[in-house]
Amino acid sequence: MAELLWTTDPHLDHASSTAREDFLAALRRTPGLAVVLSGDTSTASRLTADLEAIADAAARPVYHVLGNHDHYGATIGAVRDAVVALAQRRPEIQWLPPVGVVSLEEGLALIGVDGWADGRHGDALTTPLRLNDDRLIGELVAQPSRAARLRIKRSLADADAARISTLLERAARVARRIVVATHVPPFLEALPRSGPLSRPAWQPLLTCGATGGVLRAFAANHPDHRIVVLAGHTHAGTDVSILANLRCVVGGTRYGSPSVVSFTA
Ligand SMILES: [Fe+2]
Repeated sequence: MAELLWTTDPHLDHASSTAREDFLAALRRTPGLAVVLSGDTSTASRLTADLEAIADAAARPVYHVLGNHDHYGATIGAVRDAVVALAQRRPEIQWLPPVGVVSLEEGLALIGVDGWADGRHGDALTTPLRLNDDRLIGELVAQPSRAARLRIKRSLADADAARISTLLERAARVARRIVVATHVPPFLEALPRSGPLSRPAWQPLLTCGATGGVLRAFAANHPDHRIVVLAGHTHAGTDVSILANLRCVVGGTRYGSPSVVSFTA
């Protein structure tokens, strides 16, 4: 068993200076081998500075994926370039998709992809709900229609699904326990059962069906491996068993109150 410091959706751009200092202090004192950050750290203009503040406070390696909000005010391409450059400058801060399989301890591997809400659940073209992604992320703003934006989101999700498939196979060779960090919950079952977010209209905006399909198939084909998915995005805490060896935990978070938990993997 290994302890990880898990934080998701801290949205440091929404935190008061007091809330931010409390969060950084919690990172300093919470035990754990490494920080696992499942996205929505901040917004694009301050993302790398906020990641550095997290790493400075935790004084342990930081492994992160990007959430949709992390791209707000920029393009996906520019944000990816920025976090790759940050990893070269500060090797203890790694964006998970390119870094590959992280061996946390004997038999325990960490992998991750960002994950995008891909409209594979629910009806993406008729839901009356919208995320700000459509007006704040450059690649989506540039699209002429809702259908075109959906194609971009599906391409991103499919690329992440292909990457997680590769990483799962590689991780399985070196570990029986695999932690998967991803921003958007891959399973409908991980959405809240009650309240506004349980409405079917939210499903296309809150799940990544592409990564979910890969994770489900991998777990079914590897019954001796145990997979735990750590996700965020909904801010509504859930902990569900998808299969006997596949668990999904979604972090509960409030805007303005970033928090960290010690997660036993
Ligand atoms: Fe969030």
